[in-house]
Amino acid sequence: MSSTSSPLSKVKILFVCLGNICRSPTAEGVFRNLVESEGLSDYFEIDSAGTAGYHIGDKADSRTLRHAAKRGYDLTAHRGKRIEADDLDYYDYIIMMDKSNYADVSALCTTQWRKLKLFMEFAPETGYTEVPDPYTEGPETFELVLDLCEAAAKGLLNYLKEKHLSHLQREEKA
Ligand code: 4NP
Repeated sequence: MSSTSSPLSKVKILFVCLGNICRSPTAEGVFRNLVESEGLSDYFEIDSAGTAGYHIGDKADSRTLRHAAKRGYDLTAHRGKRIEADDLDYYDYIIMMDKSNYADVSALCTTQWRKLKLFMEFAPETGYTEVPDPYTEGPETFELVLDLCEAAAKGLLNYLKEKHLSHLQREEKA
């Protein structure tokens, strides 16, 4: 095995909001772009889901698609899903957009508590503890969702690099 080959198992991350058409698809797309830009796609499996089943099979909200596209994020492949109890075993990290999502996912949780995180834990410098629900809000909230996802994606990737990919930094230095 060469020193640049991927680890056997990817770090599996699921972003979760209520409807899975606005915030968690945005978080997924922003985080995926960041991972790609750092050449780390082989190390991560990234997806998103909603706690509610309102939008199973639906495309991302048209406003989410439009605001994301303005910043270069293509979310057109997204289709809505609902989180399942099995997802708590499968994923390594389940990352919620707000405290209500966190409470709903906690209700499905048996032993996997340490996997559950609030996305904004990774961007304390923003002063936000939650990504606000933009569904009934105006364009400025869709922009705020993108700003917060971009900040938290950076913090999350730094955290995961430190925790799971520190061998890559050692290889770079060698
Ligand atoms: P999301 O936003 O949780 O960020 O996807 C929402 C999308 C749809 C609804 C609520 C929030 N809904 O009530 O249909």
